Amino acid sequence: MALGLLQRLYLSFLILAPFGGEKEDVHADMLSIETRSFIASTDHDFICATLDWWPPEKCDYGTCGWGLASILNLNLSNAILLNAVKAFSPLKIRLGGTLQDRVMYKAGEPQQPCSPFVKNSSHIFGFSEGCLPLSRWDELNDFFNKSGASIIFGLNALKGRVLLQDGSVGNTWDLSNAAFLINYTVAKNYSIAGWELGNELTGHGIGARLNVDQYVADVTVFMDLVNATYQGKPARPLVLAPGGFFHIDWYSAFLNKTKPGSLDVLTHHIYNLGPGSSEHLIDEILNPSYLDGCASTFSNLKEIIRRSNKSAVAWVGEAGGAYNSGHHLVTDSFVSSFWYLDQLGMSAKYDTKTYCRQTLIGGNYGLLNKDTFEPNPDYYSALLWHRLMGTRVLSFNYTGSNMTRTYAHCAKQSSGITLLLINLSGNTTSQVAVANGSDLRREEYHLTARDGDLQSQVMVLNGQILSTGTNGTIPTLKPIIIQDASPLTVAPYSILFAHFPSFYAPACT
Ligand SMILES: *[C@@H]1O[C@H](CO)[C@@H](O)[C@H](O)[C@H]1NC(C)=O
Ligand SMILES: *[C@@H]1O[C@H](CO)[C@@H](O)[C@H](O)[C@H]1NC(C)=O
Ligand SMILES: *[C@@H]1O[C@H](CO)[C@@H](O)[C@H](O)[C@H]1NC(C)=O
Ligand SMILES: *[C@@H]1O[C@H](CO)[C@@H](O)[C@H](O)[C@H]1NC(C)=O
Ligand SMILES: *[C@@H]1O[C@H](CO)[C@@H](O)[C@H](O)[C@H]1NC(C)=O
Ligand SMILES: *[C@@H]1O[C@H](CO)[C@@H](O)[C@H](O)[C@H]1NC(C)=O
Ligand SMILES: *[C@@H]1O[C@H](CO)[C@@H](O)[C@H](O)[C@H]1NC(C)=O
Ligand SMILES: *[C@@H]1O[C@H](CO)[C@@H](O)[C@H](O)[C@H]1NC(C)=O
Ligand SMILES: *[C@@H]1O[C@H](CO)[C@@H](O)[C@H](O)[C@H]1NC(C)=O
Ligand SMILES: *[C@@H]1O[C@H](CO)[C@@H](O)[C@H](O)[C@H]1NC(C)=O
Ligand SMILES: *[C@@H]1O[C@H](CO)[C@@H](O)[C@H](O)[C@H]1NC(C)=O
Ligand SMILES: *[C@@H]1O[C@H](CO)[C@@H](O)[C@H](O)[C@H]1NC(C)=O
Repeated sequence: MALGLLQRLYLSFLILAPFGGEKEDVHADMLSIETRSFIASTDHDFICATLDWWPPEKCDYGTCGWGLASILNLNLSNAILLNAVKAFSPLKIRLGGTLQDRVMYKAGEPQQPCSPFVKNSSHIFGFSEGCLPLSRWDELNDFFNKSGASIIFGLNALKGRVLLQDGSVGNTWDLSNAAFLINYTVAKNYSIAGWELGNELTGHGIGARLNVDQYVADVTVFMDLVNATYQGKPARPLVLAPGGFFHIDWYSAFLNKTKPGSLDVLTHHIYNLGPGSSEHLIDEILNPSYLDGCASTFSNLKEIIRRSNKSAVAWVGEAGGAYNSGHHLVTDSFVSSFWYLDQLGMSAKYDTKTYCRQTLIGGNYGLLNKDTFEPNPDYYSALLWHRLMGTRVLSFNYTGSNMTRTYAHCAKQSSGITLLLINLSGNTTSQVAVANGSDLRREEYHLTARDGDLQSQVMVLNGQILSTGTNGTIPTLKPIIIQDASPLTVAPYSILFAHFPSFYAPACT
């Protein structure tokens, strides 16, 4: 049903009202889609989020942002948590993070202790080794099964290694504990989509450093292990590595040296906004040249994969915007969606198959609030992406303000296309005319911050506040339907998903 004039006026009022009193510009933009071919493609379940190991004692810059949100202690009985994950069917969840290389999986004698991490500054990463009890692994898998999640588990790559003074590591990887967990998991019929080896050990981040030859050797035996353990099973999970910060020489050498077929996914981590303590996070997020700074990482990675002739694909294995647990009221507020959705769009353009957000819950960058489990704005951004943006990425010509970020995909599970428009300007309305689309019926999802407050933790969709219902239900995300020849209107500081079900693009059929 098309909206009547009054409804349109009401909508413009809702969207523009917070800025109505200020000086305002309108920018007329033009978008013309290349309909014959697509330029890249993602996994169907492109959206992924992480669970981390950090205990409540993990603190950054004087605040402790984790509470009970760790793999070891998260309350898996929470109704919002279950519904939030179920809403994706499936949500990819990657279990990993700094302490993963210091986790022991409980094996052997029952009388041996299985102790949690203990804060101790004389240990690497500031904590003692921790232990995952098998009873907890059972509970987690029960939750993953009920919620229909698709699981990537990061294994301990430092087991058996010794840390040397200069940050490098000696000895070889002791894979017996990882072998035990994989074997147990197979025996229990738990469904795992991928096993990953190591976290940020490539030498361009924190802590310990494996050189290329060491990592290549480890990945080779790791693939053999996974392959052997899943022998006779209908499907072998993916093998992922190295989950480091992208550095072109290290990644290129690593890929060149891996045995063909011994790696399925090349993972990398991104924290392009800098430390969570930074005062400049919002300025960076609203600055288009700053956001573009990440494009070279994606394009270089795409290029080294192409040159290596290996069949591995690229994933962002972990990305939370600002490192050291993010920044409260930035990476967990509305303004974060400008960065997050822009980076989803940009990474997809360069053939990233999956993008894992740090975190699903925990730290100051969770999709869910760690205390109330209530979704933060980025949760709804992720869910809309998952439902509306299909796997095929389209190119287009765009003439208009560079404060409006634009992405186009074939629609998800539906005909036509979906556009994502992000208006980083606080005082210019972007009016985007879509070539061959102007007369078509379209479904629009306008996202704004409550009361125009960029740091609000409340998401507003088409003028309605989004919040969970009784029993922790996730609200339905309803579009407004527009059918007239008007351009798409993206209000200042707002985001628009526009689905054109009858837009004809041969690339999408
Ligand atoms: C995009 O612009 C180029 C260069 O002007 C032109 O050749 C091409 O046809 C345009 N594509 C579309 C889909 O408008
Ligand atoms: C976990 O959540 C459930 C459901 O909300 C609640 O009943 C229970 O008390 C919680 N457990 C803990 C340890 O907080
Ligand atoms: C911290 O670890 C060191 C080295 O393992 C150990 O000697 C020390 O007792 C630990 N301190 C605490 C408070 O546990
Ligand atoms: C959940 O477990 C059941 C029984 O083992 C299995 O049939 C089903 O495929 C599992 N679902 C998921 C999403 O893993
Ligand atoms: C793997 O599990 C089987 C039972 O399913 C057991 O017999 C075998 O000893 C296990 N191997 C390892 C390395 O744990
Ligand atoms: C796992 O699946 C196999 C084959 O379907 C079945 O025989 C076995 O009993 C299952 N094991 C468990 C622990 O459910
Ligand atoms: C990897 O191989 C490609 C193709 O031969 C080559 O261009 C590139 O320089 C190699 N990378 C490294 C780091 O040796
Ligand atoms: C996995 O094992 C099978 C059988 O031993 C072998 O044919 C296949 O090449 C192996 N795959 C990889 C990726 O090592
Ligand atoms: C954006 O456009 C403005 C005005 O046209 C220009 O001054 C600025 O350099 C552009 N910025 C980027 C990042 O392209
Ligand atoms: C990659 O494949 C191309 C085409 O088959 C071949 O020309 C090139 O030498 C290969 N490069 C490497 C590094 O194997
Ligand atoms: C819009 O905001 C920008 C940055 O805050 C400012 O430089 C510009 O002058 C403003 N434009 C108008 C029309 O108010
Ligand atoms: C909430 O859950 C309770 C207990 O399962 C049930 O009786 C009630 O109908 C539910 N309410 C809604 C609105 O679904």
